[in-house]
This record gives sequence, C-alpha cells and structure tokens, in this order.
Amino acid sequence: MYGSDKVSDEADRTAFRRAEKKYKLYYKQDSKFSKKKKQPKQVDLSDVLDFKSALEDYINKGVLPQGIRVTKCGLDDTQVFYLENHPGFYFIPGALGLEEQCKWIKESLANFPQPPNRTNHNAIYGPISNLFDAAKENMVLVREDNQPDSHDPASGSCISNGEFHSWKFVDEDFAKAKGKTWKTVPASVLLRKLRWSTLGLQFDWSKRNYDISLPHNKIPDALCQLVKRLAAIAMPVGEEFSPEAAIVNYFGLGDTLGGHLDDMERDWSKPIVSMSLGCKAIFLLGGKSREEPPQAMFLRSGDVVLMAGEARECFHGVPRVFTDEENAEIGPLESALSHGSDSSFLEYIKTSRININIRQVF
Ligand code: SIN
Repeated sequence: MYGSDKVSDEADRTAFRRAEKKYKLYYKQDSKFSKKKKQPKQVDLSDVLDFKSALEDYINKGVLPQGIRVTKCGLDDTQVFYLENHPGFYFIPGALGLEEQCKWIKESLANFPQPPNRTNHNAIYGPISNLFDAAKENMVLVREDNQPDSHDPASGSCISNGEFHSWKFVDEDFAKAKGKTWKTVPASVLLRKLRWSTLGLQFDWSKRNYDISLPHNKIPDALCQLVKRLAAIAMPVGEEFSPEAAIVNYFGLGDTLGGHLDDMERDWSKPIVSMSLGCKAIFLLGGKSREEPPQAMFLRSGDVVLMAGEARECFHGVPRVFTDEENAEIGPLESALSHGSDSSFLEYIKTSRININIRQVF
C-alpha cells in the first residue's frame, strides 16, 4: 500500500491518478500569503458521494441517489448502502457511536503502536514504547551510540552498519544537558510521523505479505466482537468473520494513501472491515484497472466500509483528509474528548484521521 504510493508518469495518465490529483490538497501560489498562511486551492466536490445526506434523504423522503441501494443489517436495523456497479462494497454511515469512536481513537494512539505491534518507526528506531505518552510529556527520543552496556530492554534497540544503537525516551532537559553527544528526536515529531501500526499477524511491507514468524498479540477481543458484527452483512452465508490482522493508518495534514489493492489475504470472499475515525476524508473506489474512473465518497468519523468479493479486486485510496475546522466535521468528538486527560487525544484528532482496517488472513 504505502509501497505502491509511488506514481510513475505512466500511471499519471490513468483515470484513477487523475481523480487523486483532482482531490489532493494543493496550495494557491499567491505571493500575498506568507508560508504560514498558505491557502488551499478550492476543489469541486460536487461529484463526491455523500452517504450521510443520502441516509437523511432516504429516511425523510424515501429517495436514493442513482445506482445506490440500501439494506438493513444486524439486530439494530442499521442501514447499509451498496452500489449496483460494485458488488461486495458496503458503506455503513455512522456505524460507530461517539463512545465507540473515542474508545478506538484512544486505543489507536496509546496501545496499538506498542510493541510487539510494529509501526513505520521500527525500521529506523527498532521497537519504541509509549510514544503517545512521551509526546504528551514533551519527551525526546535519544540515541546512545556504541554503548551496549547501557541498553535497557524496555527501550528500543537496533543494529545499523554493524553498530549497536539504543533508543529511549528521556526528559528534554536531561537530553539537553548531554549536549551534542546524544542524537535526539522529539516524541511529538515521531507522533506526527506515525503513519501505520499493525495488529495481530504482522504485515511485512517490504515483502508485501504477512510474516507469521514475527511476535504478535491477538487482535483485542472487544475489536474482534465489534468487527464480527460489522462484517456479517458481507460474509458468505453461514460463515463468521475471523479477525486475524489489522493495519491502522494515521493521516495528518496533506497525507494521502495512494490507489492500491489489498490482495495478500487468502480468501477474498471475506471482507476487509475499514473504520474511519477523526477528520473527514475523501475515499476513491475504482475498478479492477486504474483506467476505470473511480467513484469519490466522503468518509466521516464513525463510518464503516466493507470490501468483499469483487470489490476486493478494485483499486481504492484516500487522496484527501480535511484537517481544517470548517470541513473536518469532528464537532461531536470535540465535545466528547474535551475533559481532563482526554484533551491530549483531542489535540491529536482535531487535525488527524485514523483508519483501522481489519482482515481475515487465512
Ligand atoms: C485502506 O484502503 O487501506 C485504508 C482506507 C482508508 O483509510 O479509509
């Protein structure tokens, strides 16, 4: 996925790439504005499917946009949309209540990036623990070169160029006192640069497959129960979804997820369950080739997408996340996370989006 983000000139000519460019965040080239006051270019959003308003129109007027159908799932009669021309794709607007959204935002920040789960930072720093707390406390990650004796098993360590490096979070002032002998990275910078973490069976991005030999914890039980319920509508009759792996994607200002396929799981009849948290985004659902023009749709906090069967073979991606106050649409989260220790989660999610996508691998 991240590996396939690179776009060649050739790919630039595809309908999928053109749609990505249409919605991506670009800034106005206006010398009037200083760098700090960069103004985003306006983008025409009239072709973006809005399932929130589709649901309102359906409830109030009984009408649906062309090519869209609705069905009900589960005991609570939740409305589920599907697209006539994309069998296996389901959209459940507002599937997660506010409390549930807050819970998974907190888990995604405080617990999911904890070892043995891997993150994009592993390749450089080895396993690092307590990133979110360290950022909250303005700590810095420091590297002590060539000092294996001082290695603390609770902190990260890695070997590069034959040298042993050990990384750990320390107080900013303590690191300053050490002067230039210690390389430092603020935890807040690492949190901003956190792009993914993996739960359950660990995904190896360099080989683009699951490495079952890597140490891992099971997907948390509460997430399994939730996802089994959500997946039910897209499952082959009589079968229950078995959550074995998850990828958590973290998006900040300007971050995108290039068009890709999720094709490393054995049985594509089982859905990928994809939950959106935080700032509003645009999702592109394409066809089996990048030449097919994709359908753009809004994803809001609490929305859930399922992709099973034929939809598993369709290119998809996220070209835009709206991190500005006007468009992010996170008002309810702001109220729910405004108290006490929750405010650090609010600080993050006000300008970020998290996606948790859960898979059955075998
Ligand atoms: C993915 O396709 O892997 C994630 C999609 C999303 O962020 O909603």
